[in-house]
Amino acid sequence: MSVYEEQLEQLKQTPKTWLITGVAGFIGSNLLETLLVSEQKVIGLDNFSTGHQHNLDQVRELVSESQWDSFNFIEGDMRDLKTCEAACENVDYVLHQAALGSVPRSIEDPITTNENNISGFLNMLVAAKNAEVSRFVYAASSSTYGDHPDLPKVEDKIGSPLSPYAVTKLVNELYAEVFAKTYGFKAIGLRYFNIFGQRQDPKGAYAAVIPKWVASILENEAVYINGDGETSRDFCYIENVMQMNILAATTQNPEAANQVYNVALNHRTTLTELYYFIQDKLKARIPELTENEPVYRDFRAGDVRHSQADISKAQKLLGYQPTHVIDAGLEEAMDWYVNDLKK
Ligand SMILES: NC(=O)c1ccc[n+]([C@@H]2O[C@H](COP(=O)([O-])OP(=O)(O)OC[C@H]3O[C@@H](n4cnc5c(N)ncnc54)[C@H](O)[C@@H]3O)[C@@H](O)[C@H]2O)c1
Repeated sequence: MSVYEEQLEQLKQTPKTWLITGVAGFIGSNLLETLLVSEQKVIGLDNFSTGHQHNLDQVRELVSESQWDSFNFIEGDMRDLKTCEAACENVDYVLHQAALGSVPRSIEDPITTNENNISGFLNMLVAAKNAEVSRFVYAASSSTYGDHPDLPKVEDKIGSPLSPYAVTKLVNELYAEVFAKTYGFKAIGLRYFNIFGQRQDPKGAYAAVIPKWVASILENEAVYINGDGETSRDFCYIENVMQMNILAATTQNPEAANQVYNVALNHRTTLTELYYFIQDKLKARIPELTENEPVYRDFRAGDVRHSQADISKAQKLLGYQPTHVIDAGLEEAMDWYVNDLKK
C-alpha cells in the first residue's frame, strides 16, 4: 500500500472537514470528488470567475447522495476577508486553489491578477490562521522558477519571475513562509507544473494547451504552436495532484511541514510531441478524424523555454509516488474529453 492509499484509508476511518477554495475550477472540482468519495466533509468557496457550475454538477453525478450532502458550497469572493473567515470556520485542512491562472491574462491585466492572487491569498492566510486550521496547503506554481536555467528544477533554486502571474505565486510562497515564522502557521506550497485532466476548461482565451488543442482537433480547426515546437513541459496528470494535496495536508513528518514541493513527473515532453500524442489518441477513438499538421507561430511573451521537475523532495518527505505517467494520463483524459466535448 502506498502512503497515499494508507492516508485515504485513515481518513475514511476518521473523517475531517476540508475547505477547498476554487472548488468550481479544474483542480478544485477534482479535489472535491476525491474527498467526497473518501467520505470527507467539504466546504467549497468559489466566485465562478473562471470556474463553472457544470463542474460541480458533474461531481454530484459521480458521488452518492449522502456523499453530496457532506458538501457545503459558498458562492463568494476571497477578496472579501469576511467571506474567507466564514469559509474557514471549524475547518481542519485548507486546500487553497482559487486564483486567476494564466501568464498571458496577467500580462494583459496585472491588477486583477494581483488582487485575486495576492490580496485574496493574504485574506485566506489570515482567515485560516485565525481559525487555527491544522494545515494550509496552497497551489503554488512552476512559474516561480522564472529564468533559472537548471534542469530539472530543484525547489530551492529559483530565478527571477518572467510574468506578473509568476510574481503573485512567488509572493504567495513568501507570505506562507513569513506566516510560519511569525505565527507558527503550518503551510505547504505545491508548485504545480502543467496539470491536465478531466474538467480542465477547453474554452476561452486563456485555456491551457491540452484541452485547447483537444477541442481544436475535434473541431478540425488549426492548432497553433507558439515557437518552434521544441519548448517543453513536465505535463502532470490530475490524479498525481490529488495525491500530493492529500499527502501535504495529512503528513505527520515534522520535516515535511512549511515546505514547497514540485508536483510533476520529472519527464519533459516537447509541444510538437504533445501535439502528435493527442492527435494519435483522438484518432484511435474517432477513426474518421482528419489529421492535420500544427501551425508554428511566434514565441509567446513570459513563457519559459523548458520545464522539468526534480520530484525527489516530495518522494522523500511526503512519500509521493506518481501513479500516472503522461501517456496513462492522456489516455484517461482523452476518454473524458471525447465524451464531454462531443455532447
Ligand atoms: N492547471 C495548471 O496547470 C496549474 C499550474 C500551476 C498552478 N496552478 C494553480 O492551481 C490553482 C487551480 O488552477 P486550475 O487550473 O484549477 O484553475 P481554474 O481557473 O479552473 O480554477 C480556479 C478557480 O478559482 C476560482 N476563483 C478565482 N478567483 C477567485 C476569487 N477571488 N474568489 C473565489 N474563487 C475564485 C475560479 O472561479 C475557479 O473556479 C490556481 O491557483 C492556479 O494558479 C494551476
